[in-house]
Amino acid sequence: MLSTGVCGSGKGRAERRLPDQRTDSGYPEYAIEAEGLSMSFGDVKAVDGIDLKVARGELFGLLGPNGAGKTTTIRMLTTLLHPDSGRIKVEGMDASSQVYGIRGRIGVVQQHISLDKDISVRENLMHHAKLHKVPRPERAPRMDGIISLLGLEPYLGKLVSDLSGGWKKRTAIACSLIHAPSVLFLDEPTTGLDTQSRHLLWDIIQDLNREGTTIILTTHYMEEAEALCDRVALISRGRIVADDTPRNLCAGLGNIAVIHASAAGRDYRFFDTRTEAKAFADTLGAEEDSVSIRKTRLEDVFLEMTGRMAGTGPGGPAE
Ligand SMILES: Nc1ncnc2c1ncn2[C@@H]1O[C@H](COP(=O)(O)OP(=O)(O)O)[C@@H](O)[C@H]1O
Ligand SMILES: [Mg+2]
Repeated sequence: MLSTGVCGSGKGRAERRLPDQRTDSGYPEYAIEAEGLSMSFGDVKAVDGIDLKVARGELFGLLGPNGAGKTTTIRMLTTLLHPDSGRIKVEGMDASSQVYGIRGRIGVVQQHISLDKDISVRENLMHHAKLHKVPRPERAPRMDGIISLLGLEPYLGKLVSDLSGGWKKRTAIACSLIHAPSVLFLDEPTTGLDTQSRHLLWDIIQDLNREGTTIILTTHYMEEAEALCDRVALISRGRIVADDTPRNLCAGLGNIAVIHASAAGRDYRFFDTRTEAKAFADTLGAEEDSVSIRKTRLEDVFLEMTGRMAGTGPGGPAE
């Protein structure tokens, strides 16, 4: 675990007083509480009655295909968009009346990152430090901690426009951390990155979370949610269709999948044990059929809940 001192209050850190919703220890139990969130754009119901709770310190994933409503949800939770209806509290503060209180406590890395491309990485960091009114004496030590966490030392003098996608993303995360937020929102942090950059970012996200930052990330990569998140909410067509730990979601379906591919198509069946799965597989099919047995994946859960042919899954028409 890194100890960079870049994170806000949380595990093992000096914690700040919060306005309401305090537990016995003086902190709200939940970093995020949202009830009945809805948002339409014209005829498009982007978010359709979402309830969400994220505990402090959790690494939480909002998982769904393109167009499912992830970014709209994040924009509402981060006070960038006012919902048509619903109630939001972030760190115990009400999003309709305590917008600036919330903005001081959260870091946001938007899906389409908004760095100044014509200035250097260091200048972007300094710019964000001033924007967030980080006191002058704290700027240098805060920046040093973040630069070291993100491994940005070799790139500090480079123009953002000259960086690869992975380093731009790291710079954006660095800027979002400059005011020591206790809750960090990452909207599709690894989309478009190569495998190595994705895995390096996963390490950074986990380090930040271990240091105490509550993290809410969105992704359409099922394996990313499975690898990173304590808990995931599966979102489809603006609604949350399941919300649990990846392990529980898979166990709920059955931990072992049998896939029977034949001329008629692919048939999926799920079993609690490999013995049951094997017994079923042995009863299947003509010789030209293919039968495989594997562990159940989060994408199986998603596709079973939303319908394999419904076009809401990754790679489906919604992509
Ligand atoms: N500003 C907007 N104006 C019109 N439609 C929008 C806007 N933002 C999102 N949408 C629509 O809302 C739906 C959900 O979009 P979004 O929240 O961006 O999904 P995701 O982040 O899961 O890909 C999509 O159909 C999208 O086209
Ligand atoms: Mg999005």
